[in-house]
Amino acid sequence: MPTLIIVGALWGDEAKGKLVDVFGESARFNVRYSGGNNAGHTVKVGSETYKFHLIPSGILHESCTAVLGAGMVICPAALVEELKTFREKSGREGKLLISGAAHVVFPYHRSQDAAEEEMRGDNPLGTTKRGIGPAYQDKVSRIGIRMWEFVDPNRLTSRVKEVVSLKNRTLQAFGEKPIDADAIIAEYCAYADLIRPFVGEAELIVNEAIRRGEKVLFEGAQGTLLDIDMGTYPYVTGSHPTSGGACVGTGLPPTMIDNVLGVCAAYATRVGAGPFPTELHNEIGERIRIQGNEFGTTTGRARRTGWLDLVALRHASRINGFTSLAITRLDVLSGFEEVGLCTSYEVDGHQTDAFPSDTMKLEAAKPLLEMQPGWNENLSNCKTYEELPKEAQRFVDRIEMFTETPVSLISVGPERTETIYLKPSLIWN
Ligand code: IMP
Repeated sequence: MPTLIIVGALWGDEAKGKLVDVFGESARFNVRYSGGNNAGHTVKVGSETYKFHLIPSGILHESCTAVLGAGMVICPAALVEELKTFREKSGREGKLLISGAAHVVFPYHRSQDAAEEEMRGDNPLGTTKRGIGPAYQDKVSRIGIRMWEFVDPNRLTSRVKEVVSLKNRTLQAFGEKPIDADAIIAEYCAYADLIRPFVGEAELIVNEAIRRGEKVLFEGAQGTLLDIDMGTYPYVTGSHPTSGGACVGTGLPPTMIDNVLGVCAAYATRVGAGPFPTELHNEIGERIRIQGNEFGTTTGRARRTGWLDLVALRHASRINGFTSLAITRLDVLSGFEEVGLCTSYEVDGHQTDAFPSDTMKLEAAKPLLEMQPGWNENLSNCKTYEELPKEAQRFVDRIEMFTETPVSLISVGPERTETIYLKPSLIWN
């Protein structure tokens, strides 16, 4: 089957955007299966830089249809803005399809997100405040508003009135200002006019394409350890960035999954709060942040940085079923005397190489590091594994051996051409 799922291996921001762009070129559909505009992909094409938050970057290829799947929560204002920017920069309309089953983010979701973060006081989750968690809360509470309802003016009006009246009862009980349903309806009716032409039966259309043998690329947002079930709960997002999320978020049958590409950077990062055993609170961490330009595409926040955690990466490979790994940003580690890899933790006085699902245990975990000799060469012109310095080769080999997952690709710069293909047949058959 010609399907590929691209998954962030750790806490997101692994530079999946570039790979989705590279493989989107030969894909007929590029389907995003989870999250909303909490995500951010930067893709460089020649002199142009595109920043995507909602639209899969496959839209950059004329033959590829970008699909926003049922598992997403979509902010119409952000989508309209992103589409406008894409059209201005590319000079093309772009092929876009939105699942009618996807949920819509409303202004009250954003206010609730901000209010809940405020209420957490000194222990915020560090959400992106895009209303993602509250939109998923409404979905699970069966009061969410889906794309089908959003693009039908009569249904939009009645559903917004119904939901707002529910929410206003709670707000009034706390002495807060009520939400103005009419203002939301007016604003959202205008967005709906722009978005309506793209809403359709995405699940059916994508399923039929797979059956015809067309290549379909599925893309998760964020990363494995931010998964609502598999991640470091409660420091997680509201959806399923893991490979299983591609099934529940798009209607992809598990039997139609061909390959799962796990993407990890050569070091680890995290945005927001939560355990991060290999975090470096020193000048090495700062140097990685600066060399890797580790500042969020969505919020601009400085990312927390640390050595690559192989315990977490092997766990991610197992639960996602990675058929191969892509290591990105290897070029960023040039110039370090030594580079670290975490191969076990010390938890409660015991050494373990198993990733604990209890967040408290992970918070207490001390990383046990293998320090390897670094390299000074600039890697961005390397086109083959053999051209990499021996030390960089050893670093990659160790990742492959520990995780028991073949490395199929190494990225050595943001450009499409700055890519080393080791085992491309493990990515697209
Ligand atoms: P939310 O998704 O905005 O609810 O935020 C929940 C957690 O996920 C926070 O720690 C965010 O920083 C994190 N998060 C959300 N989206 C991304 C992303 O695209 N990359 C990295 N972290 C993210």
